[in-house]
Amino acid sequence: MNFERSDRLKKLPAYLFIEIDRAKKKAREEGRDIIDLGVGDPDIPTPKFVINALSKAAKDPATHRYSLDQGIPEFRNAVAKWMKKRFGVDLDPDNEIYPLIGSKEGIAHIPLAFINPGDAVLVPDPCYPPYRSGTIFACGEIIHMPLLEKNKFLPDLKAINHHLLHKAKMIFINYPNNPTSAVCDKKFLKDVVGFAKKHNLIVCSDTAYSEITFDGYKAPSIFEIEGAKDVAVEFHSLSKTFNMTGWRIGYACGNSSIIEALAKVKSNIDSGIFSAIQRAGAAALENYDKHIRSVIKIYEERRNVLVDGLNSLGFHVEKPKATFYTWIKVPPRYTSASFAKVLLEKCDIVVTPGNGFGEHGEGYVRMAVTVDKKRIKEAIDRIKKRLR
Ligand SMILES: Cc1ncc(COP(=O)(O)O)c(C=O)c1O
Repeated sequence: MNFERSDRLKKLPAYLFIEIDRAKKKAREEGRDIIDLGVGDPDIPTPKFVINALSKAAKDPATHRYSLDQGIPEFRNAVAKWMKKRFGVDLDPDNEIYPLIGSKEGIAHIPLAFINPGDAVLVPDPCYPPYRSGTIFACGEIIHMPLLEKNKFLPDLKAINHHLLHKAKMIFINYPNNPTSAVCDKKFLKDVVGFAKKHNLIVCSDTAYSEITFDGYKAPSIFEIEGAKDVAVEFHSLSKTFNMTGWRIGYACGNSSIIEALAKVKSNIDSGIFSAIQRAGAAALENYDKHIRSVIKIYEERRNVLVDGLNSLGFHVEKPKATFYTWIKVPPRYTSASFAKVLLEKCDIVVTPGNGFGEHGEGYVRMAVTVDKKRIKEAIDRIKKRLR
């Protein structure tokens, strides 16, 4: 039988990475040697100290039951300590920090806590897709904020249509940015906080890549801005920092009443994160200093190979200061999709077409350096030999 899908589901495009995954699988089934620069999923294994912490915790029956609501204090306390050490930010572990089953889960759910039909959410374009899908699930409207190269891929808050703004209740920002790899400074965050206060907006700041930064750049937390806690929540992820994408652990922090509303949504949908994973997450944060430099070094070297290689082929790409992505303008006469297609068909290279992240991603592709240097060199070589 064929059942009619809900209107909200019909509004959603297929999830970008699932489509890419299908194309990739098909190519692999045909026996082709695919270099996957598509999905941003680290190839580096989770550190041993995190695995050991999980394995020890999993043997403790106390971790085997539901970890409802706020989860275990060890994790929230470790988050509070880390946020203080890393950003100088004070957070109360009991009502300003909330564990998430990966930050995607919290990001996708937060509109359900605040958005009614007719309300709008300010969403960057291009963007990480769950800002849009979460809004659509909540029956909200999307107000796009173009991220343009001429504005260093920051939204131009002054350019947002004032006639639409009165409907807006929430704004998503994401720096370091996926997919453009752009970074922001504290001045931008201050402007966002001021803008949110002026227009009564909840700020959802997604900092999934805050620790993958290069060339001396350190990503700020919005809570380094005075008064940010009045209006903001920040979404953090352990996925990229600690190569833990499959583990599903992150957290929301900041304004306690926003957190409480998100918690109410979640308590009706999920039953928490396996406590042993939360203990491992605490161990990860506690050992951050010992771990992070080696990860950054790997991505930095790979970034250099990719960007230098592309520039040697006539592309004009700046070295990104953060994330493991490079946002590349497609050559003349190509669209995002046609360039991604030709890279797959002629070079056996998977990249992500920029238009999948939004209309303003058209004309770009995103490459992720989540394969080793040798494979990146091989990719450059293939483009050189097969695309000319
Ligand atoms: C911008 C951004 N935010 C959040 C996430 C979600 O990370 P996770 O759900 O693994 O914590 C991702 C994952 O790719 C991302 O790119």
